[in-house]
Amino acid sequence: MSSEAGSTTIGGIDQGQQGSLVPQCNSVEDCLSQMTLDEKIGQMTQASHLALETESDVTAFALGSLLAGGGGAPTTGNTPTDWADMVDGYQEAALRSRLGIPILFGVDAVHGHSNVFGTTIFPHNIGLGATRDPELVERIGEVTAAEVYATGIRWNFAPCLCVARDERWGRTYESFGETPELASMMTAYIDGMQGDSLSARNSVLATAKHWVGDGGTTRGVDQGDTEVTEAELSEVHIAPFTEAIRRNVGSVMPSYSSWNGQKLHGDEYLLTEVLRDDLGFAGFVISDWAAIDQLPGDYASDVRTSINAGIDMVMVPDEYELFIETLRAEVNAGNVSVERIDEAVTRILQAKFDLGLFDQPFSDRSGLDDIGSASHREVARQAVQQSLVLLKNDDVLPISPDLNEIVVAGLSADNIGVQSGGWTISWQGGSGATTVGTSILEGIQKAVDDGVTVTYDRRGNGALTGDVGIVVVGEQPYAEGRGDSLDISLRASELSTIERVCSAMPCVVVLVSGRPMIVSDIIENVDAFVAAWLPGSEGAGIADVLFGEVDFTGTLPMTWPRSVEQLPINVGDRDYDPLYPYGFGLTMFDDSND
Ligand code: BGC
Ligand code: BGC
Repeated sequence: MSSEAGSTTIGGIDQGQQGSLVPQCNSVEDCLSQMTLDEKIGQMTQASHLALETESDVTAFALGSLLAGGGGAPTTGNTPTDWADMVDGYQEAALRSRLGIPILFGVDAVHGHSNVFGTTIFPHNIGLGATRDPELVERIGEVTAAEVYATGIRWNFAPCLCVARDERWGRTYESFGETPELASMMTAYIDGMQGDSLSARNSVLATAKHWVGDGGTTRGVDQGDTEVTEAELSEVHIAPFTEAIRRNVGSVMPSYSSWNGQKLHGDEYLLTEVLRDDLGFAGFVISDWAAIDQLPGDYASDVRTSINAGIDMVMVPDEYELFIETLRAEVNAGNVSVERIDEAVTRILQAKFDLGLFDQPFSDRSGLDDIGSASHREVARQAVQQSLVLLKNDDVLPISPDLNEIVVAGLSADNIGVQSGGWTISWQGGSGATTVGTSILEGIQKAVDDGVTVTYDRRGNGALTGDVGIVVVGEQPYAEGRGDSLDISLRASELSTIERVCSAMPCVVVLVSGRPMIVSDIIENVDAFVAAWLPGSEGAGIADVLFGEVDFTGTLPMTWPRSVEQLPINVGDRDYDPLYPYGFGLTMFDDSND
């Protein structure tokens, strides 16, 4: 902080006129013409709200954006109101800056507003890909936007348009599936999220991520290298972005990964020539979390390379002051042009004007009561029903709801956290009653007739006297790199549970996982097998189908491999010999007369 000629300057920005709480400029051109270089750089800076030294840094540096990353709840608590209060607090700090340019707050609402307690948690994208239903996915975008908007947030880092080509990748569940057709189809989510007009109630700016090839890395290594020709990059990985741009997606986030050894965050050809010039993307590019730091060279080089390559706003997220100083020095040294800065700031301001933030910077809380409402959860339950894929059924399904006893077993049967997976309340997700919902077991208990005994035998080591067994097994929650797996197989204890229950009675195995797993041996010894993906908070959708209220309609969004040796395996490969092909999915009821 320094004092010159009576006015206070922080971070190079004059603090003289603060206090009015009204934007001091009224169009992109008007703002830009009044802005100092430091104010422009502030707009290009996104800090993690948890990294702020003090809230007044938002004012002092005229920050353009803040984010709450995975698990980045307000320090005061994790209710929707806590979030709205937090965002409004930061907004007030932004409006107190010299020009009072509103802040744009961003969040990862990747399967519902999933960091916030009590929200509606939808199936992860892999399950939505199985539905093949873009209208449903558009509706999910709408409901998610409504829940995000009610907490004062206008920007979502979703959808992931990653095309997962290798299920060893820990982010496979963020993908709609292994073909570009699925991700392209599901860009309908963007229409639901952004609505007809960005300034309308419940409209939230979407982000197509991660540009590009994140799902194509060798051996499915997170943040790895996508070693493909330009033709393959274009056909498989770029194609869904073309569709997203056609739908006017507001922002694009580059991928941590590389294309043939070159990191995307520094790739001017892909970020500018292809994304802008060829595809016509008109929104702004937000870098991924500390991703520019991974570029080769020192920090000054990271900053100039990424900005010159075409990144408009940098998700710093911690050392925002260092970023600001470094970019200022690079501009002053002539390494980054003022034209490039103006271009970036113009795009960011345009988004803020389009969202109506200059007119209505504070939260509209009128939708708070609808967060996690019955009608929102109904959409999620329907999505669960449609996402299930029936891989095998030797006359066990549908289960009659009036048997004497049903045995439910498995570690994933009664666990909202596990059935929701990563990016739920915390970054990696967690086990237990992490949020509000219905577990798969609770759904089964509600679905059976009065008088039917539902015995929950977690490990399947009790008396096992039931008429039918439902064994719910799968993966424990994970996100990003921690989810990378070389064997994608079930744990020995879970295999034993399956074996015990299925040797004692007819049984169905329900797999709760973010990807296909290696089950070739097991599936022979079970009567029915259902891929349930990561269904989210509405576990009742599973009982709806198991008991025949509705039939299975889901089909595989990914090829189901026989063994890890087969990986990567994708539809269209030569010598394609999977356990179940892409698009496979049985039904229970004979529909041959339809
Ligand atoms: C992820 C992004 C996410 C960002 C902010 C990164 O680690 O790759 O998908 O939007 O964090 O949480
Ligand atoms: C954040 C995530 C982010 C990750 C990147 C975590 O601490 O919560 O949002 O993606 O760091 O490493």
